[in-house]
Amino acid sequence: MEISHAEGAYIYDTNGKEYLDFVAGVSACSLGHRHPSVVNAIKKQLDKYLHVMVYGEYIQQPAVALTKLLANHLPAPLEKTYLTNSGTEAIEGSLKLAKRVTGRSQIIAAKLAYHGNTMGAMSVMGFEERKRAFRPLIPDVYFISFNNEQDLEQITTKTAAVILETIQGGAGFIEPRNDYLKKVRQRCDEVGSLLILDEIQPGFGRTGTLFGFENYNVVPDIIVMGKGMGGGLPIGAFTASRKMMDVLQDNPKLGHITTFGGNPVIAAAALATLREITESDLMAETLQKEKLFRSLLVHPLINEIRGIGLMLAFLTPSAEITNELILRCQDKGLILFWLLFEPRAVRITPPLTISEREIKEGCKIILNVLDQIQKNNKF
Ligand SMILES: Cc1ncc(COP(=O)(O)O)c(C=O)c1O
Repeated sequence: MEISHAEGAYIYDTNGKEYLDFVAGVSACSLGHRHPSVVNAIKKQLDKYLHVMVYGEYIQQPAVALTKLLANHLPAPLEKTYLTNSGTEAIEGSLKLAKRVTGRSQIIAAKLAYHGNTMGAMSVMGFEERKRAFRPLIPDVYFISFNNEQDLEQITTKTAAVILETIQGGAGFIEPRNDYLKKVRQRCDEVGSLLILDEIQPGFGRTGTLFGFENYNVVPDIIVMGKGMGGGLPIGAFTASRKMMDVLQDNPKLGHITTFGGNPVIAAAALATLREITESDLMAETLQKEKLFRSLLVHPLINEIRGIGLMLAFLTPSAEITNELILRCQDKGLILFWLLFEPRAVRITPPLTISEREIKEGCKIILNVLDQIQKNNKF
């Protein structure tokens, strides 16, 4: 599939075929493709200046406005943001910050967690098959089971940070249950460990709130963002209290450096995206759209629908059925995708801007293809 252009919820290939996009660049194109506010913000910034200097040396308005607006929308003490070029790089920064602030080295992560592919982020990935070939990774990393309260005893005074996805993505869109995150928060407070929440996937309106953690009554010490933040351009960020972030600035001086982080064109796109998400009804509509998906996606080959808002995944009875469905739907002009560690899952993370008509159109394709699979295989 070679891309010609993309607009709204549609991608077009060079043969002129149109594809309805239920994946949004793996949750990255939060406002769909080429949203006018994002495109205009980019064009305006293009006419002023592009990269001028390594991040932080000069005052560049798009990055300042973006980080200020983020601070306005985040609960205390989350105030000071460092902008990066990708999600995985923001994870690296958050791990470094936790070590620097606590003076400890141990990191606790979750089994089946995915936080990115650079060395630090890969070290906290809870899936050995994807790590083995790259060992040795960073030491002093231990794994607990997500949603398992007994495992919280493993968080001790040696722990610098517990890093968790607010909703586990690659594992199969697993939500925290029974106040799990609150209990993790409590244990962290008891032993002086930091709580890092990876919001790279649920963040930026996808779950009906600006950040996923707002659904679970908890505030992390460090929040990590990416993907949907850029409205289709590459960006990541980590945010913590001013006091913590200031520690990273000193001894060594400038403890985290990046050339292109805070790039003015990308920051302008992210600022336009954040404004659009927070000033429109998109977040509230996300929950209505979830209801619509749940009411339409009813079929004997759909065992379960997981997730919240427009971070949804449904499970078929087998990896084979999931593969066949995803490939056949693409033939029929609907983009679906897999999850990393749950082969039966089908990802539904469309642009937040998707319309009810488009949701109905896409679900009809899914149901028709599932009917065919059922008939051909006599399930
Ligand atoms: C939860 C989570 N964390 C981190 C990352 C890494 O982000 P990036 O691919 O921008 O490095 C991803 C990307 O899929 C993700 O889903």
